[in-house]
Amino acid sequence: MELGAYDVVHLSALAVLGATGLYLLLLLFGSLRASAVVARTGEAERALFRARTEEILARTRAEQERNELSWNGFRKFEIAEKREEVPGVCSFYLQPHDKRPLPPFMPGQFLTFKLDIPGQQKDVIRCYSLSDAPNPDYFRVTIKKVPPPRDKPEAPWGLSSSFFHEQLEQGDILDVKAPSGHFFLDTATQTPIVLIGGGVGITPVLSMLNAVTNAASKREVWFFLGVRNKTEHPMKEHLETLAREHENVHLNICYSDPTEDCKEGVDYQHKGHVSVDLFKKQLKSNNYEFYFCGPPPMMNALDEHLKEWGVPEARINYEAFGPATVKKLKEPAPGEAAGSDIQVTFTRSNKTVGWNPAVGSLLDFAEDNGVTIDFGCRAGNCGTCKTAIQGGEVEYLGPPGEMPEQGSCLVCLCVPKTNLELDA
Ligand SMILES: Cc1cc2nc3c(=O)[nH]c(=O)nc-3n(C[C@H](O)[C@H](O)[C@H](O)COP(=O)(O)OP(=O)(O)OC[C@H]3O[C@@H](n4cnc5c(N)ncnc54)[C@H](O)[C@@H]3O)c2cc1C
Ligand code: FES
Repeated sequence: MELGAYDVVHLSALAVLGATGLYLLLLLFGSLRASAVVARTGEAERALFRARTEEILARTRAEQERNELSWNGFRKFEIAEKREEVPGVCSFYLQPHDKRPLPPFMPGQFLTFKLDIPGQQKDVIRCYSLSDAPNPDYFRVTIKKVPPPRDKPEAPWGLSSSFFHEQLEQGDILDVKAPSGHFFLDTATQTPIVLIGGGVGITPVLSMLNAVTNAASKREVWFFLGVRNKTEHPMKEHLETLAREHENVHLNICYSDPTEDCKEGVDYQHKGHVSVDLFKKQLKSNNYEFYFCGPPPMMNALDEHLKEWGVPEARINYEAFGPATVKKLKEPAPGEAAGSDIQVTFTRSNKTVGWNPAVGSLLDFAEDNGVTIDFGCRAGNCGTCKTAIQGGEVEYLGPPGEMPEQGSCLVCLCVPKTNLELDA
């Protein structure tokens, strides 16, 4: 008998439940031992202990629910509503066609879409961040229609984003993978956070902000948004309402190019770009978790300047929407030279090139050398960039969402370990 997607998910859910039970027993054992300690300590320690326990239980419950309600492969979703946020940016509210409940994703995660776009020879895969807090009734994505690059105005507008804007309407059906991605907020803790969005890069951090406020959490949140002016300011009223109604939310809107009708102190708080210099003026210290998503210059500057400010790398979290901007590089092993004499052959393109570790992943390297490989997430989650290895070995820069079968690799997350031949 063949197992369906739901059977597989439920079997994995049972395994997870077993593991969770064992985990809770260990937790109970731990807490009994800990309670002996707690008896000797003061109220502050007891409160801390209770908070930690609640944190672990909340995380376990959410994990369990996610496993029970998630799905493998693509699931049909209907566009329940299409809403223009600002010119060129639309939100799409998606509901499962099978009417079954939705899993509670982690705020910051994204959906992977398989799009059958008229005129395209094969399906187009694209990822879009969930732009609202987890909700059992719908998923929301917010999409910007992508114009041609400034230096190539004759190029066509973005394929998928134009399809969403111009051709998809309420009632249309889409193929969607379950939420995934490693860029997310841990909502079980109370660490103060700084959320930063640039342009449409607001989407994952808005999901995080909404998750905090929906939970009526008192967690300290600093929200920075950088846009050119009022005409590009998405979710303006929503953000202002949140800041008004939640004293733990500190809203900082930056307009780089305000027009005459943009009022400082009303529409926006700061003129210029979001920057670490601005954080130094607004924040009491650098002791926050930072989450950001935006255009490449903003991402690179924030990454560099946060590190210069002394923020540990572990507290700097980001998502890149396009070709990797802040690059994940392989740390050279002790004694390993920064350069490399590894050769990479792209067999179908008939190209052999000396590997350059500074480039990032094999996907970045292929693109730099004029070899086109399809991609979706560029983060090892969607499987689109899977490429057959015809010789040699690769290593991963981080854990992929799902390891591809033997003999292939996800080039967006790999670097060569030896001389390599790829079917590309
Ligand atoms: C994890 C993740 C989350 C994301 N979340 C969001 C989100 O929440 N919202 C959002 O709007 N986007 C998001 N994105 C980006 C999104 O996935 C797409 O990359 C984006 O919509 C562009 O895709 P497209 O098909 O419209 O453009 P493409 O067709 O891929 O084109 C990209 C660019 O190339 C140009 N181009 C096309 N052909 C040529 C040519 N021949 N020569 C030169 N230039 C050319 C286009 O004009 C365009 O500027 C996310 C991406 C990732 C990886
Ligand atoms: S592009 Fe998504 S896994 Fe590589």
